[in-house]
Amino acid sequence: MITQPFKVAIALFGATGDLSRRKLLPSMFHLFQEGSLKDDFAIIAVGRRDFSDDDFRKTAEESISANKKLENLDGLETFLEHVFYVKLDIADSNTYKVLNDKFESLEAEFDTGNNRLFYLAMPPQYFTVITDNLRESGVTDTSGFRRLIIEKPFGKDYDSALALNNQITKTFDEHEIYRIDHYLGKEMVQNIEVIRFSNSLFEPLWNNHYISNIQITSSESLGVLDRGEYYEKSGAVRDMFQNHMLQIVSLLGMEPPISLNSDDIRDEKIKVLKSLRRLGEKEVKKHFVRGQYDEGLVEGKAASKYRDEENVAEDSNTPTFIASRLYIDNFRWAGVPFYVRTGKRMKDKETKIVVEFKEVPRNLYYQAEEDDVLAKNLLVIRIQPDESITLHLNVKDYAGEKDTKEIKLSYTVAKQDLARTVDAYENLIYDCLNGDSTNFTHQEELMNAWAFVDPVNKVWENDAASFPNYQSGSSGPIKSNLLLSRDGFKWWDV
Ligand code: BG6
Repeated sequence: MITQPFKVAIALFGATGDLSRRKLLPSMFHLFQEGSLKDDFAIIAVGRRDFSDDDFRKTAEESISANKKLENLDGLETFLEHVFYVKLDIADSNTYKVLNDKFESLEAEFDTGNNRLFYLAMPPQYFTVITDNLRESGVTDTSGFRRLIIEKPFGKDYDSALALNNQITKTFDEHEIYRIDHYLGKEMVQNIEVIRFSNSLFEPLWNNHYISNIQITSSESLGVLDRGEYYEKSGAVRDMFQNHMLQIVSLLGMEPPISLNSDDIRDEKIKVLKSLRRLGEKEVKKHFVRGQYDEGLVEGKAASKYRDEENVAEDSNTPTFIASRLYIDNFRWAGVPFYVRTGKRMKDKETKIVVEFKEVPRNLYYQAEEDDVLAKNLLVIRIQPDESITLHLNVKDYAGEKDTKEIKLSYTVAKQDLARTVDAYENLIYDCLNGDSTNFTHQEELMNAWAFVDPVNKVWENDAASFPNYQSGSSGPIKSNLLLSRDGFKWWDV
């Protein structure tokens, strides 16, 4: 990361919320420790509570001190001197004058270049109220840059996302809007492009001639915790699949961009999302499997079923698991299934990609032994918890018991490299300050992703499932295995 001190005043809406405390404040503090924020910045925490600057600074100090990924707290006191609090009734445009006054006084005090960043770490129902009021009260009229970071969900379907966008773009232009998908801030997700486009080894094989299928798994061992109310409306499709999972698909599937410029990369990602085979309602059942967790044992501890979680209906039809078979209908990928699954309360917390290569055209080994076969060539990209790349190959078995044996060439990212940032959010806030929107979701990506998942939600929401159908601590419903076994594949547990 190039470290240069940015000039900016950041209005953090939802500053006392969970996301701000766990991720955003520690990330901003670490950017300060690294020198990306130095003298010319201010953070305006915006909230409803009757806090003084000092009250908020105490909260911020606690949140930052509690962050386990920070190696030390050097400079915390100075950082906090740049943090202020403004009480605002976000629904009342008249109160926004206070925010504008605060910006103006801090701009004079800290020489922030009149650059204003608005970070909405808020529930989605407030997005447009805030952007409208910012515009109407003149807070967005500034001679410096003005940028907006918003958190998902960006709508709940195609139509609502379009409406949301139409409203927000009354205040901010598309190039000023940074829609966060925190998976795009994960180093190993960013590494997908580097692995593909900086090695001559993979790109010639990266197509339907040599790859038989690609699998993406993002499993979580945790349940919905205290987010039942949100999750009931969202489910696994809107919470993980429409955004994080489809972003990974587009990075794996895209053509090499003509440059690393964000527009060039985005154009290629959009093409992948456009090429996803759209499913009619009848096909949803064939290509998608849904699940909801039952009781079970997770990491040795008893876990309750989803329907018993707080703020979840007793007869909830919300999927906590989704597995799917996607097709990218273009020359490169025609005929190669992308299997994608994500779910809560599963066996482990892990996110990984497995690229399975086709068999050699003619197998010279194991002619006589029916049970022995060559191991499949796999490229495994592990995104979390550890970050590694592993290539599975066949070599001569020196012990001589078999003709060949499988070996794994592996690279694991070193601990000190992982410690470079406290969180994916740090990368993304940095990028936004730098005016680089490559790792954010463009409106067209968003709309194409909704267009793809809308039929799935429509079918599932109108058809009660036999839930629960997988045990907590398992790998999800058995049916998700059938999705692959029918094609002659299996989920790789590697
Ligand atoms: C969020 C979802 O976007 O991603 C959560 O809303 C989910 O439900 C989280 O737990 C997973 O993120 P990570 O980084 O822990 O894999």
